[in-house]
Amino acid sequence: MPRPQFATLILSFFCLISLFSWTLHAQTLPPARYDGFVYQDRPGDADSILIEAFYDPVCPDSRDSWPPLKQALRYYGSRTSLVVHLLPLPYHDNAFVASRALHIANLLNTSSTFPLLEQFYEHQERFYNNETHNLSRASVVKEMVKFATEAVGNSYYSAIESGFNDRKTDLKTRVSFKYSTSRGVFGTPTFYVNGFALPDTGSTIDYNGWRRIIDLLIKAKKGKSEETMHFLL
Ligand SMILES: *[C@@H]1O[C@H](CO)[C@@H](O)[C@H](O)[C@H]1NC(C)=O
Ligand SMILES: *[C@@H]1O[C@H](CO)[C@@H](O)[C@H](O)[C@H]1NC(C)=O
Ligand SMILES: *[C@@H]1O[C@H](CO)[C@@H](O)[C@H](O)[C@H]1NC(C)=O
Repeated sequence: MPRPQFATLILSFFCLISLFSWTLHAQTLPPARYDGFVYQDRPGDADSILIEAFYDPVCPDSRDSWPPLKQALRYYGSRTSLVVHLLPLPYHDNAFVASRALHIANLLNTSSTFPLLEQFYEHQERFYNNETHNLSRASVVKEMVKFATEAVGNSYYSAIESGFNDRKTDLKTRVSFKYSTSRGVFGTPTFYVNGFALPDTGSTIDYNGWRRIIDLLIKAKKGKSEETMHFLL
């Protein structure tokens, strides 16, 4: 084998090795904390039914699905727990900024996370594509800082502002996005119950719908029903 070719081979081998180790560094390190916001600091125990909601804070269907779910959570109390994962949809221009605001709120004042989510659900039109069509990215962020301050607390204004310049909050929001897509979620709202996706992804489940599902699971846990198996299998 002529020497130049051999050298090229060796060189490409090392390039490949360093590419591999770079990818290892960039991709295989999981986030330090499991993704998601735990509702009412109520992580649940091994016996409670875990609901995971995949939400986009500026999605109208996510908004519509929240009141009945909240009502069901109130009804079942500690028999259920909820974790919200964010999936900022690419066709909602401000979904990522809004999701980032939730991560910032969660870092600064954990108990403001769900109040801020509800505030988005009350006033999300302010951040719709059409309504922000003529606004620069910078002024949307400025609006978002003011908006989030209302939920997190007035004294947090500048902390929220610098939150938007903190790479950590950008990364946390990316982790949420990646986590949601890695679960195969591509629309909001999507609900998983005890780790399995509910059928009818992307649509609102009303209060009676939640009652039907969760009552069945509670009955099944007591060994009184095999219906849930048919429900998923
Ligand atoms: C944290 O947020 C909650 C909910 O919005 C609010 O009631 C509380 O006053 C805030 N805490 C502080 C220290 O600002
Ligand atoms: C688009 O946004 C403008 C400005 O906020 C508003 O006046 C208008 O009603 C909106 N149009 C639609 C179709 O929502
Ligand atoms: C955006 O600006 C254009 C040009 O000034 C105007 O015609 C349009 O109505 C504006 N759109 C909104 C949603 O404000």
